[in-house]
Amino acid sequence: MTRRVHSGVPGLDDVLHGGFLEGSAVLVEGGPGTGKTTLGMQFLHTGIVKEDEPGLLITFEEFPSSLIQDARSHNWDLRALEEANKLRLVFTSPQTLLSSLRSPFSPLNRMIVEWDIRRIVLDSVSHFARITRNPTELRDIYGTVINGLKREGITSILTRETNTNRLYPSGDKLSFVVDAILMMRYVEIDSAIQRAILVLKMRGSPHAHGVYRYDIQQEGMAVRDRFEGLHGLLTGMPTRTRPRRSASR
Ligand SMILES: Nc1ncnc2c1ncn2[C@@H]1O[C@H](COP(=O)(O)OP(=O)(O)OP(=O)(O)O)[C@@H](O)[C@H]1O
Ligand SMILES: [Mg+2]
Repeated sequence: MTRRVHSGVPGLDDVLHGGFLEGSAVLVEGGPGTGKTTLGMQFLHTGIVKEDEPGLLITFEEFPSSLIQDARSHNWDLRALEEANKLRLVFTSPQTLLSSLRSPFSPLNRMIVEWDIRRIVLDSVSHFARITRNPTELRDIYGTVINGLKREGITSILTRETNTNRLYPSGDKLSFVVDAILMMRYVEIDSAIQRAILVLKMRGSPHAHGVYRYDIQQEGMAVRDRFEGLHGLLTGMPTRTRPRRSASR
């Protein structure tokens, strides 16, 4: 049986029936500020601190120094992990990453083997869409990236920005190539914004099908209870499935 890789997010492994499958490529998609980068950093940080699994964070948008600073707000000392040779933060471009993944002897691939990297976060895959507008070519690029990351049983998280509340963005190819998809959404309930997470797919494993509440605090992200009594959560503006009883009756 495939080993489970703990996500590092309290409550999420239960939803995933034990954690991610080792060697899988997981797409984490959501709108701005939903917590994609936080989930990725937490996955790497707990992997190193609790499981002694070296990690690699590849970013196209945030400088490593700003990631280090953001992580500090959760008391995750990424710099110390780098100094201990347990974490690598790589700031690159989609083109450079693509050619590195294509060549088995690239410095990146050599580092992955030498450091025995077990977890990779790629933040975010949305940037590959800048390379080409041709959907077939883009699908090939995604295939190359995912195959490149999936070597040696490495478990990877790929983040993707979305501004839609639809389940499948139109023209989407990446959803078919990844092994699992987590969706993070904002929902408005009683005039307040709450955070919702859903496992949309998980190849080779059962998983919970509910929409769960999560929050981000100083300790990081945590998945809480399932939303009950509401439908249309993924539209962002759910309605109650049962009418509320009036207090006067
Ligand atoms: N130390 C903290 N304590 C509480 N909440 C925090 C803390 N740090 C970050 N957050 C929350 O997490 C959110 C940012 O999360 P994160 O940067 O992971 O989102 P993201 O999905 O990667 O966003 P983007 O699409 O802009 O990259 C903030 O908007 C804030 O609400
Ligand atoms: Mg981010």
